Amino acid sequence: MSLSSWGDAYEPTVRTRVEVMHGVNLDQLGRRDPTHYGDLDLGELETQIGGWANELGLQVRFFQTNHEGEFVEHLHELEGVTDGILVNPGAWTHYSYAIHDALEIAALPTVEVHLSNVDAREGWRSISVVRDLCIATVAGKGPDGYREALEILKREMS
Ligand code: DQA
Repeated sequence: MSLSSWGDAYEPTVRTRVEVMHGVNLDQLGRRDPTHYGDLDLGELETQIGGWANELGLQVRFFQTNHEGEFVEHLHELEGVTDGILVNPGAWTHYSYAIHDALEIAALPTVEVHLSNVDAREGWRSISVVRDLCIATVAGKGPDGYREALEILKREMS
């Protein structure tokens, strides 16, 4: 039976694609305060995330930029390309309504992740302008938080 015989009502039931998006300054992991961010650099963190994704049967793609407009445009381009988003917007978390609105346009299941415990640091870090669009937030668990976020997305997408 060809897929087209399902007609317009066809929706794939197996959703396994996750876009892992790192925002501003996350390319500098390894040089940042290890008490908050640990000592992995971004490449090492992404290798670990890729391994967990494999174990969970998920396919991950990675994106990082320090340019807010590029981050927004990447979100615009996700339609039909991925099934879920794992996002750590870095400091943009706390004030970027542009990223909030682009996540709303993307309209995909999204989990927000922070390496550090943003609620136990400076007051401004406990504000997240994207949280209302996310199915969950995982913070303060270091790299392991990404595994938890993948598990949450997997549950949501299956
Ligand atoms: C961060 C927390 C943010 O407050 C900070 O600006 C970052 C990283 C985290 O992963 O803990 O750049 O998102």
